[in-house]
Amino acid sequence: MVSTRGKLVVGNWKMNGSRAANSVLLDALKASAPYPASVAVCVPAPFLRDVAASLQGSHIAWGAQDCSSHASGAFTGEVSAAMLAEFGCRYVIVGHSERRAMHGESDRLVAEKAARALASALTPIVCVGETLAEREAGQTEAVVSRQLGAAIELLGDAVAQIVLAYEPVWAIGTGKTASPAEAEAVHAALRAQLTAASAAAVDVSILYGGSVKADNAASLFGQADIDGGLVGGAALNAEQFAAICKAAA
Ligand code: 13P
Repeated sequence: MVSTRGKLVVGNWKMNGSRAANSVLLDALKASAPYPASVAVCVPAPFLRDVAASLQGSHIAWGAQDCSSHASGAFTGEVSAAMLAEFGCRYVIVGHSERRAMHGESDRLVAEKAARALASALTPIVCVGETLAEREAGQTEAVVSRQLGAAIELLGDAVAQIVLAYEPVWAIGTGKTASPAEAEAVHAALRAQLTAASAAAVDVSILYGGSVKADNAASLFGQADIDGGLVGGAALNAEQFAAICKAAA
């Protein structure tokens, strides 16, 4: 099957921003359009209404950073995928390493969240990645394969509808980036696992995340199996983020 996947750059604002600062950032991003890639921002849930109003009709999509594994009910503090869909979200990040590490999210729970997202017609951005200790122990491929495997097991052929993000934990917010060759090796392994699971998954975009900046984006995005980026810190700076988006030609 010939792939038609295009480049995608997603900004993960994490727990940053304010209504005033977001407005300035989004105005600047819109002013720098068009971009050669698909672009989205994943924002804290309370900002979704403002962000939707700002980005409606632009070429920039928006999404959230997490969703519940449940449809509705007595889950204080959680936000459902259906609620995110009501605010026009296209994407929702699930299984970010910060949630796996700080909120004890298991591979199975992350897969359940991805299934909920798909049921509400959102595209889950499923994150995988190894810690420094796991990399140094030579376990990188085993770890990411186990994490992706849980999504494949639960979703079956619907895994073709996800976006996958490889984010080595040791590269997040540290200024240390996986070299393009290191990242490509993991992306190629993930691609092989996806296509072995489902022929349709040849079109799944696999994003790289972890200290992506304007000056390293082009070399990362130039790799055969790197289809764009999931960008943290640099997504809060319009000039940096626009430059990264333009590097995804
Ligand atoms: P940084 O780009 O700040 O390293 O964050 C990456 C990330 O975690 C995106 O989800």
